[in-house]
Amino acid sequence: METRIIEVRSPKSVFCLLSSVLWCLILAPMLVSAESVRKEGYRNDYLPNGIVPKHEMDTAENWIAIFEHPKRGEWQEPDKVIEKMNLKEGDVVADIGAGSGYFTRLFARVVGTTGKAYGVDIEPELVKYMEEDAQRLNLSNYIPKLATMADSGLETNSVDVIFICLTYHHLEDRINYMNKLKKVLKKGGRVIIVAFYKKKMDFGPPPDNKISEEVTIEEMKEAGYHLTRRLDFLRYQYFLEFEPATN
Ligand SMILES: C[S@@+](CC[C@H](N)C(=O)[O-])C[C@H]1O[C@@H](n2cnc3c(N)ncnc32)[C@H](O)[C@@H]1O
Repeated sequence: METRIIEVRSPKSVFCLLSSVLWCLILAPMLVSAESVRKEGYRNDYLPNGIVPKHEMDTAENWIAIFEHPKRGEWQEPDKVIEKMNLKEGDVVADIGAGSGYFTRLFARVVGTTGKAYGVDIEPELVKYMEEDAQRLNLSNYIPKLATMADSGLETNSVDVIFICLTYHHLEDRINYMNKLKKVLKKGGRVIIVAFYKKKMDFGPPPDNKISEEVTIEEMKEAGYHLTRRLDFLRYQYFLEFEPATN
């Protein structure tokens, strides 16, 4: 395992963790100085209007503004991600580390009223934001769920597709976590992981703060899964699909 994250016990410390880890993973490349942009070739044009560049970005409001930034679609390409996920009407999808529900609300629409989209997160303020979002959008199958670091809280044998975007590296004791998560999947269920490539790019976190595809595949194998698809349609991120080895 490349990185270890200490256990977080309070909302405030959760945001400290988010501030330190997510800063490195998402914000730093957005906020690098003009000098770094020139030297390293990073792009810094994703800072939402009204957000003052500083390191203590420790409120849910600020994180939501980042996750929901209008330019995110340019590199995240959520429609393409969803197309590649091959979701069906009636599917139950669990978005682990859902953040502001950026993907969860789209899943809810795709699976329709006979399906469900769980937005699972450990941060109460983000879960509250998703609850308001679901109400605003009148999507009764968009279901935010407060989890703990070690447990998704999802019921056994209840989910068709587990989706993990920009969150796998946050999981503490990843192999155990993913191993335990298998029981949540229905027979034939799948796990999809989307994460930044671990290489120097003009956007995204520095390589040291990322987990490579190879390590993710190896860890997932240890956790009892096998790789079923490995796609490279996103410019900055890999897309991996796994199934339990004993399906
Ligand atoms: C970088 S954000 C990604 C948000 C979302 N997936 C997206 O792509 O917009 C990572 C999220 O994972 C959540 N998180 C971290 N560890 C978690 C865990 N063990 N279980 C559930 N959520 C977790 C954090 O609170 C944060 O909202």
